[in-house]
Amino acid sequence: MGYVAELNTGNKMPVIGLGTGAPAYQYEEIKAAVGVALQVGYRHFDTASYYGSEGALGASLTEAFQRGDVKREEVFVTTKLWDDEHDDPPAAITKSLKHLQLEYVDLYLIHWPLRLRKGYTLPPKEEDFLPLAIKSTWQGMEKCFELGLTKAIGLSNFSCKKIEDLLNYCKIPPAANQVELHPMWQQKKLRDYCRKMKIQVCAWSPLGAPKTPWGSNVVMDNPVIKEIAQKHGKSTAQVVLRWGIDKGVCALPKSFNKGRITENFQVFDWCLTAEDHEKMSKLEQRKILRGEDLVNSTTSPYRTIEELWDGEI
Ligand SMILES: NC(=O)c1ccc[n+]([C@@H]2O[C@H](COP(=O)([O-])OP(=O)(O)OC[C@H]3O[C@@H](n4cnc5c(N)ncnc54)[C@H](OP(=O)(O)O)[C@@H]3O)[C@@H](O)[C@H]2O)c1
Repeated sequence: MGYVAELNTGNKMPVIGLGTGAPAYQYEEIKAAVGVALQVGYRHFDTASYYGSEGALGASLTEAFQRGDVKREEVFVTTKLWDDEHDDPPAAITKSLKHLQLEYVDLYLIHWPLRLRKGYTLPPKEEDFLPLAIKSTWQGMEKCFELGLTKAIGLSNFSCKKIEDLLNYCKIPPAANQVELHPMWQQKKLRDYCRKMKIQVCAWSPLGAPKTPWGSNVVMDNPVIKEIAQKHGKSTAQVVLRWGIDKGVCALPKSFNKGRITENFQVFDWCLTAEDHEKMSKLEQRKILRGEDLVNSTTSPYRTIEELWDGEI
């Protein structure tokens, strides 16, 4: 795979995108990071209505379009339908587009296979869970596509089983599935299944989300990966991102630091060896964000995390 992945819609997704998962109060930081990323060469940005970063991303892109630095059609923007927006995806995407100051996004995803009531707080309490209605949610996503509000629709945090169910009734198949994926959670079964079904896999927390409350340093501190990085004269993050690209995955590293934004994009002019891949294929696997908060024995559609991930954990 080159620097772009071709989606089942025929549109192209750059394989490295900037993650912007950050709260709205970091507005200036997010806006500046997007500006730096555009200069470095990033043309793919990941946001979600849940993050609160749509406004800052939109402002930074709008300024870049006005300056003539980049054209709208040269940038790939993903946003997502949050858990309390399943009842009306066209209304939700319209709100997101307003924040983003865009007429369309390139990809609109169902953020989680989960439905919460309006006014919920995280972690969700028993009364916050609503019965799942993925079929009607997907019909709403298809409507967004038909209205031209998004160039593609897709999923996030869906297992093979959940994708298979959806493929049985959908009119428009999903173009992508965005999931936790890194060398310590390689998701081989899901990658193989999605490749077969022409669904592009995108990696969230591609570095394992070091220094964050939901993530871990296990990926960045792994001695095997560190040794491979040292051998190539690259950073651990670069080896991890290159590994993902070699696996056919699009990765969405988040950084708001100029040096690290640049570093994470310098992954195209060198390669890992077959021996490196062999060593990395043997790393112990454990999902970092497991979703314990999303299951209960009464109101959640999932009683256990095994049910949430259909055993793929
Ligand atoms: N669909 C979903 O459910 C979902 C869930 C989680 C995330 N996401 C998306 O995926 C994106 C990335 O995930 P993430 O933020 O959880 O994890 P991540 O990208 O794996 O890690 C981000 C952390 O790594 C640090 N970092 C970045 N580059 C580095 C480098 N070269 N060396 C050392 N540290 C580095 C960042 O700090 P600095 O900023 O200080 O560099 C930040 O603390 C999010 O922003 C969001 O867009 C989606």
